[in-house]
Amino acid sequence: MNRLIMIALVTGAFLPSAQAQLGDASRGQRSFQACAPCHSLEPDRNMTGPSLADLWNRKAGMLPSFSRYSQALKSSGITWDDATLNEWLRDPQHLIPGNTMPFSGVKDAGRRGDLLAFLKDATQPGHAPPSIAQRGNQMGGMMMGMMGGGAVPNLKKLESDQRVTAITHCRDTYRVITADGKTRDFWERNLRFKTDVSDDGPQKGAPAIVAAGMMGDRADVIFAAPEEISGAISPQC
Ligand code: HEC
Repeated sequence: MNRLIMIALVTGAFLPSAQAQLGDASRGQRSFQACAPCHSLEPDRNMTGPSLADLWNRKAGMLPSFSRYSQALKSSGITWDDATLNEWLRDPQHLIPGNTMPFSGVKDAGRRGDLLAFLKDATQPGHAPPSIAQRGNQMGGMMMGMMGGGAVPNLKKLESDQRVTAITHCRDTYRVITADGKTRDFWERNLRFKTDVSDDGPQKGAPAIVAAGMMGDRADVIFAAPEEISGAISPQC
């Protein structure tokens, strides 16, 4: 072995992945805003991505309550710890090619260290900062939809301007009537129908309207179950 390689090995220059410098957790909490739209820290609260509660020493792709793991993540054989999470957050596609997390990574090692310090504590049972864990419940649905970020709003209790009482369809237009008596017209391509069967979803028979996008021309109507959808829309001009 030549001397240069020896020195590199001894100083760890060839092993950047093994080093995961944990940084400043409060700075890391701010960086977590990049993850919060997709990941909750509450146990089994799954969104686009799986809950990150109890993440350390968990096998990748193995949270039983999450139904949308890629084959790549499930078969990676990786266990999450300081080093593997550092690599994952640096470049997810490099660590596990073919995974389906729509996130390109945090390139800056310092920011990654801060994020890891925050996550390592906040993913322990009961340690998630309430401001993050419950954010979805605190803000109104229309508001959250407009801001386009953060956790999903809880739709079990609705303000009257969120609770849909009737939907009609005429030519290319949906008309949505809410419990406050207001009527809003949408071009049919701007209104989406969704479901949420979880604890965050609406009550049976009480679909919710949530703004989508910044312009105020788009919205989602979220139902408690798929079979509610077509019955809720009456053709009427
Ligand atoms: C746009 C949504 C999105 C964003 C943003 C996002 N993730 Fe993910 N994440 C996912 C999805 C989806 C998966 C599952 C990927 C798969 O199955 O291949 C995932 C998987 C993971 C996993 C593996 C969990 C497990 O159970 O094995 C970790 C850890 C993770 N993400 C951490 C983060 C962190 C930390 C951030 C912020 C720096 C982040 N993610 C940003 C959607 C996202």
